[in-house]
Amino acid sequence: MEKLRLGIIGVGSVVREIYRHLYFHSDYSRLLDIVAVADPNEAFRAAFCDMYNIPPQRQFADYADMLAAVDLDAVQVNTPDHIHAAPTIAALEAGLDVVVPKPTAATIADAHAMIHAAQKAGRLLAIDFHKREDPRIQQCKARYQSGRYGQLQSTTWYMLDKLSVADPNEETPFFASPNFAEVNTPISFLTVHMCDALMQIVNLMPVEVRATGYSQKLPALTPRPVKGYDLCDTEIRFRGGALAHIITGWHLPNTAHATTVQSSRLICTDGMVDLDLDKPGYHELHPDGISEVNPLFLNFEHDGSVTGYGISSPGRMYQKFLAYRNGQLSSEEVAQMADPMRLGFFTTLVCQAAEDSLREGQTGADGVADGVTDGVTDGVTVGRPIDLRSLCVRQLGEDAAGQYLG
Ligand SMILES: NC(=O)c1ccc[n+]([C@@H]2O[C@H](COP(=O)([O-])OP(=O)(O)OC[C@H]3O[C@@H](n4cnc5c(N)ncnc54)[C@H](O)[C@@H]3O)[C@@H](O)[C@H]2O)c1
Repeated sequence: MEKLRLGIIGVGSVVREIYRHLYFHSDYSRLLDIVAVADPNEAFRAAFCDMYNIPPQRQFADYADMLAAVDLDAVQVNTPDHIHAAPTIAALEAGLDVVVPKPTAATIADAHAMIHAAQKAGRLLAIDFHKREDPRIQQCKARYQSGRYGQLQSTTWYMLDKLSVADPNEETPFFASPNFAEVNTPISFLTVHMCDALMQIVNLMPVEVRATGYSQKLPALTPRPVKGYDLCDTEIRFRGGALAHIITGWHLPNTAHATTVQSSRLICTDGMVDLDLDKPGYHELHPDGISEVNPLFLNFEHDGSVTGYGISSPGRMYQKFLAYRNGQLSSEEVAQMADPMRLGFFTTLVCQAAEDSLREGQTGADGVADGVTDGVTDGVTVGRPIDLRSLCVRQLGEDAAGQYLG
């Protein structure tokens, strides 16, 4: 087999921003035959299918109809986080391999069901955490894990998008779903990236999470306000005592020097690392403004092809799928791909705990902005600490929780 027959489930913003380049303009495009598309949003489905000549009989509103009608080898599930599990499980049960953009799912119950379905079906599941392929993260991981910096003690990561990403009042909104920033949070959209990158580097088990949320800018947007968080600070305590703060938001002024302003610092027993992730070295001064261009992530080349780790990260997953179908993937590689850390289970655990922490926290809402009456400024939610083992046991039961936490 030389090509995978791929069905695409969901063709919203992530496809527009990243995956259409993978499917049609990359070194990996020759491995992929995009044979069918399923998306209930007729306008998005039609726009994608018209642009890339997907015939009408292979366009579906319902992914179940696509799975029943079209011969496929793999699917990519580009639906909102809370709709990852059902199409992924249906595809795995139909004998297909599945790529999902990060995060694995919105809850550990969903993530566990997806991991379990892949094991049961003997198929591959891969989660595209593209930051893992950033050469700076990879180098930091190799050096940290060689023992060069000793033990992590404390670390801060931040990832802040321009307001235009979350603002549904933009002329061309970033997200296909107008309520994206209400049903999602900076935690599900952004913390997930940094949490995963950190855990890839230090390979530590998270034990407790507490979040603080700020909802002060988005509710004031006009004419359509957004009932959601501007900024979230997720505090993670790891086994052994290391502490992380992951600060994410989507309310930076649109004049910011990059769509995503991001960085991190790790302080360890034997050294310190600064990862200036939004300074990739291409600084542009133009009538549109001053900006940092990140060709490491997506590099739009002169000949129309697109490279960068945003493309190679999922591209390598499809190479593995093809090798698996051709009997050329070793059992060690198959086992590595099934590792829960690699499948984003612990990242999902931290993010769910952070969301739970906020939901169960105390929000200032008494009209007293200085916190005199209830002790919390309006629009600020102080979350409750969440013990991750208890959360796992409550959601999955003792046996399944033990499989992940030991
Ligand atoms: N937008 C990005 O830059 C980005 C980057 C990395 C990861 N992601 C992840 O990609 C996923 C999709 O996000 P997005 O930004 O494209 O959201 P989006 O709202 O822009 O698009 C989601 C698409 O899924 C479709 N959809 C909803 N239910 C469906 C169903 N049952 N079957 C088929 N299609 C369905 C919607 O109609 C829409 O077209 C999310 O998990 C997100 O976290 C997004």
